[in-house]
Amino acid sequence: MGCKVFIMQCFVGFWDYETPKIMVVKNMTLGIIYRIVQLLIVTYFTWYVFISQKAYQESETGPESFIYTKMEGAAISGDTVQDTVEYSRPPEGGDVISAILRKEVTPNQKQGVCAEHFAVPKANCTKDSDCIPGRTDMSGNGQRTGRCVQYYNFTFKTCEIKSWCPIEEFAAIRELELKEAINFTVLIKNTIHFPKFRVAKSNVMRKRSKYYLQSCHYNEVTDIYCPNFKLGYIAEQAGEKFSELCKTGGVIGVFINWNCNLDLDPSECKPKYSFRRLDLRKNHASSGYNYRFAKYYSENGTEVRTMIKAFGMRIDVIVHGQAGKFSIIPTIINMVTALTSVGIVSFLCDWILLTFIDKDEVYSEKKFDEICKHSSHTPDMDITMNAEAEPTPLRKLPDPLF
Ligand SMILES: *[C@@H]1O[C@H](CO)[C@@H](O)[C@H](O)[C@H]1NC(C)=O
Repeated sequence: MGCKVFIMQCFVGFWDYETPKIMVVKNMTLGIIYRIVQLLIVTYFTWYVFISQKAYQESETGPESFIYTKMEGAAISGDTVQDTVEYSRPPEGGDVISAILRKEVTPNQKQGVCAEHFAVPKANCTKDSDCIPGRTDMSGNGQRTGRCVQYYNFTFKTCEIKSWCPIEEFAAIRELELKEAINFTVLIKNTIHFPKFRVAKSNVMRKRSKYYLQSCHYNEVTDIYCPNFKLGYIAEQAGEKFSELCKTGGVIGVFINWNCNLDLDPSECKPKYSFRRLDLRKNHASSGYNYRFAKYYSENGTEVRTMIKAFGMRIDVIVHGQAGKFSIIPTIINMVTALTSVGIVSFLCDWILLTFIDKDEVYSEKKFDEICKHSSHTPDMDITMNAEAEPTPLRKLPDPLF
């Protein structure tokens, strides 16, 4: 008999069957909380997760993208014609292209010796010993020769340097702003490809005649597939004054966003453009955009250059994209998540019920039941915990080793 009881008691917990019991609580407050939280969760899943976030779709972001840019337009500035070759850089247009709007030109620079600019540290001098030969100042224009010379046609003296002479700060000529550039256009062709869905799209309509692209201008409503933007339009959309850009230069981002719902008609997958200035604002010391380049020529066998500091409007094209298409797996996963979440409400209500409402422990008594059926003929087999009859049933067990 002892052995049998021992084995049965070893598996006391194991042989118990637990089953949830439905308990209907007639409590208005709890009922209202239950329904409201349930409604919130259902609304969240249907409206936000399924309708807004399209959780039933398989999605792909970051499409493969190809960008080609080209500037168009010409104007007379002073007495030189400014055509695309003159003002547009770099010559092959990728996702970055810039138009020169203003130049500071330093003509006829040759390798030689001349006076350093007076604003360079320790460049002012009165005698040769003030200038250390071989010294090169990082903010200066060249290497010092050790002589103190007259500053061009002024009366004061600065250290002499070996450099491209005359120096830019002294000789640069400010040219007029290219105001006409406000009507120049930039063509931004963009083709994207979503490899997962094998969908390719372009921001240029194919069917139109080939002259269409040469004369059209982008319009959000009528000409959405004409990616010809006036520089003035881009500046305006980015909230910048074109005349301000002409003075300091600036970088403007053209963002193309492709948001494609492939469950709809393919024509619904349209490019959306937005514009924003990317460099620091006007009042910042280092704002604007400029760079230097030179044109070289030969004069009696000596190399001579025209150095140009160009202030321009740089356009950076940045492409974003995402595509989504119905797929059974995300649909099932999100459905299951939704249903599970609705079930969580009962845990919340149980907690409220047992913590706040159940003051006299009526509910908890009902909620946690232990049921045992006493067998009349074999009282030894009754293994349920009856505290009064068997206060410490486990202590009566023999040691398993003996
Ligand atoms: C740009 O074009 C508009 C109309 O096409 C014209 O009125 C304006 O004068 C032009 N701006 C410049 C600076 O040429």
